[in-house]
Amino acid sequence: MKFLIITGNPKSGGLTCAVTEEIKRGAKDGGAEVEIADCGTITRCRVCGDGWGTCRNENTCAFGDNGFNELQAKIKEADLLCIISPVYWGEMSESLKAFADRLRRCEFAASAIEGALKGKQTLLAAVPGGSGNALLTCLQQMERFCQHTGAVVFDYIGVNRWNQGYKKTAAYNAALLMAKGVKNGETV
Ligand SMILES: Cc1cc2nc3c(=O)[nH]c(=O)nc-3n(C[C@H](O)[C@H](O)[C@H](O)COP(=O)(O)O)c2cc1C
Repeated sequence: MKFLIITGNPKSGGLTCAVTEEIKRGAKDGGAEVEIADCGTITRCRVCGDGWGTCRNENTCAFGDNGFNELQAKIKEADLLCIISPVYWGEMSESLKAFADRLRRCEFAASAIEGALKGKQTLLAAVPGGSGNALLTCLQQMERFCQHTGAVVFDYIGVNRWNQGYKKTAAYNAALLMAKGVKNGETV
């Protein structure tokens, strides 16, 4: 099983990084081949064609530069996905949001057929700071991306400074179970 972790975390070290490592460890221990893909250098959608670009019908970006096409292909190849971000302004990080926006355009129509994310078990993880209040809006934004692209949410994980002791364990276990083939909706 190929387990791809997609992140737009600009920070090396820190809590988001630590949670990403836990997810990687869990997936590996479950027998998956794991890769972390950083979408930080991929540029945003150029909103071509007066907003009605060919992406919507051709399932590919007309400006497939900055590694966008490669990452889209990697997602298609993967069996399992995780999307993880620090919470910025109650949302995903800017780089992850930009990538997700661009990918959604290419995958929306494809989600009805054989899209890169169609039916894929996907773990959503968000890492807030401060009061932790903005966790839900970030996870909701990620969930909407999944709804638009056909990905299936396996679980929602929120980790902050004071719950990290037990939530990192949850993140590890979620990835472990996914790698072992457990799916959303199954009783274990
Ligand atoms: C620009 C920016 C905006 C942020 N916005 C929020 C926010 O809306 N809610 C929140 O709980 N934390 C917010 N944070 C804090 C991060 O989520 C916090 O750093 C989090 O613990 C991620 O940990 P890490 O940076 O160590 O990976 C923000 C941080 C930055 C840099």
